[in-house]
Amino acid sequence: MLKDFEGIVKQGSHDERLLLQIDQEKLPRHVAVIMDGNGRWAARRRRPRAAGHRAGAESVRAVVETSARLGIPVLTLYAFSTENWKRPDAEVQALMALLREYMRRELIAIKKNNIRFRVIGRIEELDPDIQRGLHEGMLETAENTGMQLNIGLNYSGRAELIDAIRSIAGAVRRGEVGPGEIDEPMLDRHLYTAGLPDPDLLIRTSGEMRLSNFMLWQVAYSEIYVTDTFWPDFRRTDFLTAILEYQRRERRYGGVLEPTVSGAGPILTRKLGLI
Ligand code: FPP
Repeated sequence: MLKDFEGIVKQGSHDERLLLQIDQEKLPRHVAVIMDGNGRWAARRRRPRAAGHRAGAESVRAVVETSARLGIPVLTLYAFSTENWKRPDAEVQALMALLREYMRRELIAIKKNNIRFRVIGRIEELDPDIQRGLHEGMLETAENTGMQLNIGLNYSGRAELIDAIRSIAGAVRRGEVGPGEIDEPMLDRHLYTAGLPDPDLLIRTSGEMRLSNFMLWQVAYSEIYVTDTFWPDFRRTDFLTAILEYQRRERRYGGVLEPTVSGAGPILTRKLGLI
């Protein structure tokens, strides 16, 4: 894994020390991020909110690159919620302009790095020119086999569930499935994230302890990591720190962990070098 950071991370640096601690066998299969705090970051600097979003786009770049180098299979970033339309028009326009610019500038790097790009959300309600850029990005990367990068745009977890339910209701009406056949895997197949593993790790920046309507179905068993760092300050070091914290968690999925030697749980057993 370190090989993928050669020339990127300095020898003897803090990031190198973090990378050395990461267990490649226990990487999250899917990391989802609620990018929050752009406005507060800007306010602290007495700058317009748009400056916070612009700096936040640099964090997007850093986190996408770090995830891809680490070998994380799926990364989902929440960029614009269905509720964000309520913001002042100038801010919405600034966010849309950033998105246009991001697609124009990053598509080459995304393609070069074998990343598959996908938008989750009600994309059809976005400006036609933005839709075009997004569709182009999705089409041109559809065959890529590396990391899957999902961007949540005009996204909300409840809207996603409504869309899934409408789609299942259509199938029931056409007689393709009976109501009794509706189960969790079927609902999964009708979500925007169909075919992807649920997030193992959900990161939220800027200290807020909320889900904000993000992937409500999929985060049922996700480990939640909240940091006080504002999104524009959240870069490689912060991401590696979050991964390490995730790797220290014990996941039980509502059950109990079987002790592997008398009295010693897996973490202790691992420390003892027994597994
Ligand atoms: C939350 O900060 C952030 C957003 C609503 C937008 C996130 C967008 C970016 C990082 C810009 C670029 C994205 C891409 C994919 C190119 P906030 O404005 O809610 O901050 P506050 O809570 O401090 O006001």
